[in-house]
Amino acid sequence: MKLVDTHCHLDNEKFDEDRLEVIERIKENLEFCVNIGYDLASSKKSLELAKEYDFIYAVIGIHPIDIAEYDEEVEKELELLGKNPKVVAIGEIGLDYHWMTEPKEVQQERFKKQLELAERLNKPVVIHTRDAMEDTVNILKEYPNITGVIHCYPGSLETAKQLVDRFYLGIGGTLTFKNSKKAVEVVKDIPLDRIVIETDCPYLTPEPFRGKRNEPIYVEYVAKKIAEIKEISVEDVTKITTENAKKLYRIG
Ligand code: NI
Repeated sequence: MKLVDTHCHLDNEKFDEDRLEVIERIKENLEFCVNIGYDLASSKKSLELAKEYDFIYAVIGIHPIDIAEYDEEVEKELELLGKNPKVVAIGEIGLDYHWMTEPKEVQQERFKKQLELAERLNKPVVIHTRDAMEDTVNILKEYPNITGVIHCYPGSLETAKQLVDRFYLGIGGTLTFKNSKKAVEVVKDIPLDRIVIETDCPYLTPEPFRGKRNEPIYVEYVAKKIAEIKEISVEDVTKITTENAKKLYRIG
């Protein structure tokens, strides 16, 4: 069994020059990857990629930083795209109080609308949350049937314990950084069957490539770090996190 990248952005312009080679490396080295939209255009590109390659799946939605474009028309288009079976979740959606392009209230209202969209389509969600954990958790409590993943989980161990009954925690390259104390604590104490591995590429490149462009096959370095923290084999990390990814996105 191979690893999965549960969160990548292959449509990003940083892959324009060698996208085919990057995709070839995914085919060789990973079980599959999930490409995540952040606005309507990238959501469409995400589905195009998923239609072209059987080992790529799509997630569609409007990111809190791009939430200004969200209106009824966009929602209708997302709902139509979301009916395609290669769309495995709605995301990335959530709250970002760090890069506030829209006020908190607007972000919250449109986050809720997209949670309701996920409910209508019967799909899990990919959550982005930055400097907004408390509001994110409270909103998710209003939707007890929603499942999914908290991408690049930025919270404390205590909050993680409240979330893992319904949500997987997405762990990426930041785990390998020197100042990743909080993430190490989370990985150590949260059972492996609630963790999925991601890159968020082209961003958040793990050590030893920190500062360079990230790509899906670098999930390997995250898996190695998890194995080291949990004192288990990389094979076990691979097997369990790949099964988790399939359960999360209801694949296979
Ligand atoms: Ni992302």
